[in-house]
Amino acid sequence: MKRVLVTGGCGFIGRHVAHELTEHGYEVRVLDALLEQVHGRVSVSIPAGTELIRADVRDRDAVAKAVSDVDAVIHLAAEVGVGQSMYEIARYVGTNDLGTATLLEALIKKPVERIVVASSMSIYGEGLYETPDGRRVDDARRKPGDIRNGQWNLLSAAGETLSPIATDEEKRPDLASIYALTKFMQERAVLIFGQTYGVSAVALRLFNVFGAGQALANPYTGVLANFAARLANGKRPMIFEDGQQKRDFVHVRDVARAFRLALEQRLAAGQAINIGSGGSYTISDVARLLAEAMGIAKLPPEILGKARSGDIRNCFADIGKARELLGFEPRHRLENSLAEFVAWVRNNVAVDRGTDMKRELEERGLVS
Ligand SMILES: NC(=O)c1ccc[n+]([C@@H]2O[C@H](COP(=O)([O-])OP(=O)(O)OC[C@H]3O[C@@H](n4cnc5c(N)ncnc54)[C@H](O)[C@@H]3O)[C@@H](O)[C@H]2O)c1
Repeated sequence: MKRVLVTGGCGFIGRHVAHELTEHGYEVRVLDALLEQVHGRVSVSIPAGTELIRADVRDRDAVAKAVSDVDAVIHLAAEVGVGQSMYEIARYVGTNDLGTATLLEALIKKPVERIVVASSMSIYGEGLYETPDGRRVDDARRKPGDIRNGQWNLLSAAGETLSPIATDEEKRPDLASIYALTKFMQERAVLIFGQTYGVSAVALRLFNVFGAGQALANPYTGVLANFAARLANGKRPMIFEDGQQKRDFVHVRDVARAFRLALEQRLAAGQAINIGSGGSYTISDVARLLAEAMGIAKLPPEILGKARSGDIRNCFADIGKARELLGFEPRHRLENSLAEFVAWVRNNVAVDRGTDMKRELEERGLVS
C-alpha cells in the first residue's frame, strides 16, 4: 500500500481527496494547521482513516517528519481568497510561497515518487477570448477606467467586442491578484523542482470547486458557499458587476478523483492540467439555481454594479488535456448536485460574513 501526505487535508478539497485515496487503498497522512478562518473555533474532525499532523506547512521540523516515510505528496495547504490576498499580502505569500518552498526543501532530503500541487484558474487572469472573425485573443485585460464606467465586457484594442471561449493550458498566464501570483509560484516551483530532482510532478489548475464541505463562514472563497450563507440567513446573495460573468463549476468529488488520477497516470508527469467541468454558468444563474434549490426563490440576488479589484470577467475550462492525460471525465453537473449541497448547508451553521467582506474591501478601496 502506498502512503500519501496530503497538506491542507482537513480543508474542503483535502477532505474529499483523503476520502478518495483511502477508498482506493492508499494510506493517508494529513498535515494541516486548521486555520480558524476556514474551520471556525469548534473542534475539527479529521478525515476518517487518516493520520493528522497539526502543523504549519512552514514548520521545517514538522514537514520533515511528515514526509519522512511517504511515497507521494498532494500539496493543497494554502490561504485561499482573491480579495483578501490584496491586503493580507504577507500572510498569502508566507503560507503559499514560503510554505511550498519549505515542503520542497524537505523533499530534497527525502525524495518521493510523485508530487501533485493544487494550482488555480486564477493564474490565467481573464480567460481566452476570440474576435468576431474567430481570432484567438490570449492577452485580454480590462482597463480600470472601463470597469469604473460599468463597461464590464472586454473589447479588443480596435474596440471590437470579444467573446469568451474555453480556456486551454496554452493561454498565457496573467496574474491579476496576489493570490494568483502565489498560486503560479506554487505551480512553477513544484514543476521546476520535479525537473531538477527527477521527481515526477504535476500541477492541477482547478476551476471553481463546489460541493459539500466548503467553509460557509469564509466569505473570501467559494461563490456557492457565500450565496448559500446569505440565503440561509434570509439575505439576498450579493453579486459584483452585472452578474453576467461566466465561471466553470466543478464538483469536489470530480476534483478529488482528478488528484488520484494525477498520482497514478504516468503521462501526467511534468504537466499543468486544467480541472473543470467543461461547461460554464453566469453568476446570476448560479444564484438563481441555488435559491430555487433552497426553496427561497423570493430572494433574488442583489446586483451591486461594482467590481472587486483583481476579479476577472470570464474564465471556463477546456478540459481536453485532462481527458487525454488523466482519463478524467466529470461525473457531476451543477444543476444535478445542488440538492445534495443544500442538504449539507441545512445541517451546518451558515454564518454570513458577506457584508463584512464587502466592507473590508470597500474600506481599502478595493471595490469600484
Ligand atoms: N476551492 C476552490 O475553488 C479552489 C480553486 C482553485 C484552487 N484551489 C486550491 O486548492 C487548495 C485547497 O483549497 P480549499 O478550497 O480546500 O481551501 P480550504 O481553505 O478549505 O483548505 C485549505 C486547508 O489548508 C490549511 N492551511 C492553510 N494554511 C496553512 C498552513 N500555513 N499550514 C498548514 N495548513 C494550512 C487550512 O487549515 C485548510 O484546512 C488550495 O491550494 C487552493 O488554492 C481551490
